[in-house]
Amino acid sequence: MKLSNTALLQSGYFINNEWHTTGKKFPVYNPANGETLIQVSDAGVQEAEAAVAAAEKAFVTWSVLPAKERAAILKKWFSLIVQHTDDLALLLTSEQGKPLEEAKGEVQYGASFIEWFAEEARRVYGDVIPSPMTDRRFVTIKQPVGVVSAITPWNFPIAMITRKIAPALAVGCTVVLKPAEDTPLCALALAVLAKEAGIPAGVFNVLPTMQAVEVGKVLTTHPVVQKVSFTGSTEVGRILMQQAASTVKKMSLELGGNAPAIVFEDADIEKAVKGTLASKYRNAGQTCVCANRVLVQRSIYPAFMEAYTKAVAALMVGNGVDKDVKIGPLINQDAIDKVERLMQDALNKGAEVLLGGKKAAAGELFYEPTIITKCTAEMDLSHEEIFGPVSAVYIFDTVEDAIQLANATEYGLAAYFFATDIAKIWRIAEQLQYGIIGINEGIISFAEVPFGGIKQSGFGKEGSMYGVDDYLIVKYMCIGI
Ligand code: SIN
Repeated sequence: MKLSNTALLQSGYFINNEWHTTGKKFPVYNPANGETLIQVSDAGVQEAEAAVAAAEKAFVTWSVLPAKERAAILKKWFSLIVQHTDDLALLLTSEQGKPLEEAKGEVQYGASFIEWFAEEARRVYGDVIPSPMTDRRFVTIKQPVGVVSAITPWNFPIAMITRKIAPALAVGCTVVLKPAEDTPLCALALAVLAKEAGIPAGVFNVLPTMQAVEVGKVLTTHPVVQKVSFTGSTEVGRILMQQAASTVKKMSLELGGNAPAIVFEDADIEKAVKGTLASKYRNAGQTCVCANRVLVQRSIYPAFMEAYTKAVAALMVGNGVDKDVKIGPLINQDAIDKVERLMQDALNKGAEVLLGGKKAAAGELFYEPTIITKCTAEMDLSHEEIFGPVSAVYIFDTVEDAIQLANATEYGLAAYFFATDIAKIWRIAEQLQYGIIGINEGIISFAEVPFGGIKQSGFGKEGSMYGVDDYLIVKYMCIGI
């Protein structure tokens, strides 16, 4: 990995704008070839407590800085990230595996949250509430909640960090970040640029760690931490929620998904193929909003499947740094094992392989772009996130069947559907029990819109004008006159 700015490659932990090292280290691998990229310091409980203390101290001054000044610093951070797009993308592809073009897209997407929330920082308004009394007046103000802990996943090692950190910092909170152990390097590079942008000491602290359970416990139970923001599995989210309950912390949870992509008989086939492909195979199928189930109405099934199979077969598998590659490796051996387990279970229960269906020749962690048909609700992949490049296809007959099938899950993050009848589009969008709906479109994430699920996909909205709410308290003042 050859970075133009070698200072972006860090291996320590970051507290108070200083780099520290621990005796204990852990390797960060390139999932495309298994090479060790670097050994990183393994921050533990003591370091987590020091980071919280630094964030607590920094909150005193950062929280009272005028929003305009915080915004100016965040804008500088945004510019530095954009300026270093090529290096950050290379770092991202090297530790996470996604194709370089997708990684560049993620750098821009990640930076866009910083720009957006720098702008939103100046619009955190309170209210004047009409009083029913002659001798009392009511106002509300919004204030930063305090020290925030952010626990982020490996599938978007930049954007899932900035989507949490930017609103927190913008409104005056300070942050301790624990990035995923598979992908700490992007987080550390963001810290380098945050410091360069002028974010003061203690405002943003980063703890790479292999001790996820122990460090996670500090970040969810420490009495100083006022808010926990987590993106990851529903299973881990439940544990963190229990831990955070002990000190009644504010929380946002962006958890698992089980997105249906529904192709109705009146769909524009070209749009349905493009949208389903984009949603399913982005990041080799490793996003929480990836189409997990492709539901196709019987009458359009032959035409859709012919075009879809052709498009999936054209996806090139390989190391993300190589030209034209569209499908990189999965993140680690557990991810490959999971895809193989779900495939085997589906095949045992009657599914048929239309395309792919096995590990790819490109290396240990690669899986072929796959389509399986004859899927049913009894199969494990109907209830679990596949998190791999596998389209599980189901046939349905009526609109009611499709809605019933789509909603038959504990998850409620994203759903997609393809149709042209406008009245039907409204009705279906209203009936789908999901927080995000893509209609004739497979790419739905932007800084300007609210990202977040319902049911066991969690709660809280990231991005958009709502994204600051989770980092604010509303204070009501009653003034006697
Ligand atoms: C995720 O997989 O959780 C994030 C995907 C996105 O932001 O589009």
